[in-house]
Amino acid sequence: MTAMEAVKIGLLGIGTVGSGTFRVLERNREEIARRAGRRIEIAWVAARDVAKARAVVGDAIPVVTDAVAAVADPAIDIVVEVIGGTGVAKDAILAAIAHGKHIVTANKALLALHGGEIFAAASARGAMIAFEGAVSGCIPTIKVLREGLAANRIEWIAGIVNGTSNFILSEMRAKGLPFADALSEAQVLGYAEADPTFDVEGIDAAHKLTLLSAIGFGIPVQFDKAYVEGITALTDRDMTYAEKLGYRIKLLGIARRTARGIELRVHPTLIPASRLIASVDGAMNAILVKADAAGVTLYYGAGAGSEPTASAVLADVIDVTRLMRAEPQERVPYLAFQPDALSDVGILPMAEVETSYYLRVRVRDDVGVLADLARTLADAGISIDAMLQQGPGDDRGETDIVILTHPTRERSFDAAMERIVALPAVRPGYSRIRREDLG
Ligand code: NDP
Ligand code: HSE
Repeated sequence: MTAMEAVKIGLLGIGTVGSGTFRVLERNREEIARRAGRRIEIAWVAARDVAKARAVVGDAIPVVTDAVAAVADPAIDIVVEVIGGTGVAKDAILAAIAHGKHIVTANKALLALHGGEIFAAASARGAMIAFEGAVSGCIPTIKVLREGLAANRIEWIAGIVNGTSNFILSEMRAKGLPFADALSEAQVLGYAEADPTFDVEGIDAAHKLTLLSAIGFGIPVQFDKAYVEGITALTDRDMTYAEKLGYRIKLLGIARRTARGIELRVHPTLIPASRLIASVDGAMNAILVKADAAGVTLYYGAGAGSEPTASAVLADVIDVTRLMRAEPQERVPYLAFQPDALSDVGILPMAEVETSYYLRVRVRDDVGVLADLARTLADAGISIDAMLQQGPGDDRGETDIVILTHPTRERSFDAAMERIVALPAVRPGYSRIRREDLG
């Protein structure tokens, strides 16, 4: 190894990811230096609570409290932002870029919402922005899409990209835990976002999917166009019926190129239990990518947590260290495609998306009710793939009917549902979950 000066990092945030980054760098210092070609050192960390920060880093590393001012430090080369959110984190990153620092961040919310502005600022200053930790924890998904599959035309990406919601669904299914208990466990384990609504309402997954879609298809970052639905309305009953029909329910992020536009959607999804991705449990993530030359590839690993995310953050630090002296045009573009070669193909509105459905309705258990349901779907041009009636009616003479449809446009399905809920035998409340084959 050369005797070049150490690369100096300003570490913004020393919480779950920041502390993991500190520990892994300490533990693997030599191994990392052998890979990067230079030693990598933390110059200081920024946190609000100095005592809490000291408990992690000890006395040898200075702790600062003004992250935005600190990034001006001429001694540092790279700012690692693991504060989160779109407030101080954004100000600090823009200030750091203005001072010519390279950026490593795990902040998907920030990039999904303000990526355009941040990438433009970085490009103007010749700064690198690396964000492997922002998507699917330790799994090198960004690297795969930006580099490994660079020769391909990506057709679709479908992934379990939120560890917290996958953990909750797995605990509910395997242990029968109530939703709230499973969420508390995920928070204790450090998987959840500062606001767990982001996890359970699909917003965090949509942030990540937005980044993946930009890198996969060479389109701008467009979080505002994503369709987002979380897991809070899912019931045990639907999980059980799905299993009986040979499916598992997962919160899936799907980005698909179609002739009519790009699908960008996050929602609970029935996937065949026989698919590998259906067995991805706990806080693990998995991403399937369908590419024209490579075919289908699957990436699996811990999607959240202190050291798994630190693994991705430090891989970025190593990459940035290696490329620091390269000319900006020799580096991989932020979003994989050259900034002047982005496509303006539109995001397909959800009403136009074609998929198949799981539908559960509670009905009066009378002669002809099933026929009425089938007729209403047929009138809307929706074909039934499978059906399940849950046993004899209960003592109120009601029963659940579960229907799997063939693919149809969301708009047609919504129109059929308006007529179904108006049928006299149909009780209030129904469940509709989209279904994907992922073949
Ligand atoms: P934590 O809440 O655990 O840590 C946040 C850290 O930022 C704390 O050290 C906090 O310090 C510090 N901080 C907050 N506000 C300020 C401020 N104004 N000035 C200086 N420091 C501040 O968050 P995580 O580590 O979980 O997440 C960090 C980022 O990583 C987020 O963008 C998140 O989305 C992302 N991420 C998280 C993963 C995970 O598994 N947790 C996985 C992948 C990405 P103090 O305690 O003193 O307030
Ligand atoms: N809250 C996120 C999750 C952290 O649960 O997946 C990882 O990005």
